[in-house]
Amino acid sequence: MRLSDTMSTAISDQVTLELTASMVYLQLAIELENQDLTGMSSWMRAQAEEEQVHAAKFISHALDRGAAPQIGTIETPIFAGKSPVELFEAALAHEEKVSEAIRELYRTAQSEGDLDIVPLLNWFVDEQLEEEATVGEIVGRLTLVGDDGSGLLRMDSQLGSRTPDIDSGE
Ligand code: FEO
Repeated sequence: MRLSDTMSTAISDQVTLELTASMVYLQLAIELENQDLTGMSSWMRAQAEEEQVHAAKFISHALDRGAAPQIGTIETPIFAGKSPVELFEAALAHEEKVSEAIRELYRTAQSEGDLDIVPLLNWFVDEQLEEEATVGEIVGRLTLVGDDGSGLLRMDSQLGSRTPDIDSGE
């Protein structure tokens, strides 16, 4: 089924949001590397790559259904001088925003009677649950560590072992 104009616009907005997420994570990676927390920086870079995959999934879906998404303006916040816990809190806040956008896309699909996008949206609902839980746990552990330098370096080392999960999920 071809995408309706409403769904096409909603997908373009979601593509822009996923690409914004990617740039937000890259900006967070830059700030963490500037603070010599290279493991946390590499964790953020891996997440930036995953967000590119998320955008690509929506782009492919739209193209398969006769629509060409339009990427909108991408803006990134300034993170200079923020602490590691503040940087991960910023990541969590952005994930919560993306989760709400996925829910809204779901509602739009329902009102448009668009069943074809439901499997893709189900994948994203699961993915958002997982991402919020993962980032939330890191925020919790960073809060426990507080200003303890050796605890921070231990977490930096643990987070640096992450590799991007670019499973297509379909
Ligand atoms: Fe694709 Fe983390 O939102």
